[in-house]
Amino acid sequence: MTKILAFNWKMNPGKLKTAISLARASDFKGAVIMPPFIFIEEIAKVLKKAKLGAQDLSWENPPAGRGAFTGEVSAKELKNLGVEYVIVGHSERRLKLNETDEMINKKVLTALGAGLKVILCVGEGLAIRKNGKKSVEKFIKSQLQKDLKGINKLLVISHKSLSHNLVIAYEPVWAIGTGRSDTPKDVIEIINFIKKSLVISHKSSVKILYGGSVSGKNIKNFVQYNDIDGYLIGGASLKLSEVNKIIQICLEK
Ligand code: PGA
Repeated sequence: MTKILAFNWKMNPGKLKTAISLARASDFKGAVIMPPFIFIEEIAKVLKKAKLGAQDLSWENPPAGRGAFTGEVSAKELKNLGVEYVIVGHSERRLKLNETDEMINKKVLTALGAGLKVILCVGEGLAIRKNGKKSVEKFIKSQLQKDLKGINKLLVISHKSLSHNLVIAYEPVWAIGTGRSDTPKDVIEIINFIKKSLVISHKSSVKILYGGSVSGKNIKNFVQYNDIDGYLIGGASLKLSEVNKIIQICLEK
C-alpha cells in the first residue's frame, strides 16, 4: 500500500512562488499537499500525482456552499477547488484557538457528509504522557468518542462506507514542532489502541498516520512498520531537501 504523506504547510511558506516550487518537489503518488487557503487554487494547477488538501473548513455548509459566515471556507468551496482531504482538530487549533471537541465533531460530520476525506488529529499533551499509558489511552479514547459522535448515523443516511474517507492522525502534542518525535514502539501501541477503540462500521478501512517532528532523518525508523499508514508532516514539509529525503525513503519501501 502506498503510504500517505500529508504535508501540512500551516501558515507557510508566505510567497506563492515558493509554494509552487515546494508543491512541484512534493508531487508524488501518496502525497497530500495541504497549503494555506490562499494558495490552494494555484497549487491545484501544479499537482499531477499528489492530492490536494486543506488545513481546516467551516462546519457551516449551506446548500450552495456560500453564505454570511465571515472568514469561513465551506466544504463545497474546497471541493470546487479540487480539494480531497481536510485536516480537522489539529492541536494548534484546539489549543491556540480554543477549538472544542464539539466544534471538531461538527466539522468532521460536515466534511464527511460533503464527500471530503477527513484527517482527524488526536493526541495527548506532555502532562498526560507523563502520567503513563493508561492516561494517554483514556484521553485519546475520549477525543475519538467526542469527535466522531454521530458518524454511524451519517453512514446509514449516506448508504456508503464513509470509513474509507476517514483518516486519523496520532499526533502527540509534545512531539509537534519540537524536533522530538515519539518512538515507533509507542506510536504502534497507540495506533493499535486507536484501531481497537473505534466504534464505527468498516473500521478496518480507516487509515492511521503518525505526526510529530517527522523528518528526513528519522522517517527511516518508522517506515519498516506496516501498522503506520503514513505521516502528517509539518516543519520538514517546508524544506526541499527534507521533502526529497522523505519521498526517497518512502518510495524505496
Ligand atoms: P511537525 O508538525 O512535523 O512540524 O512536528 C506536524 C503537524 O503539526 O502536523
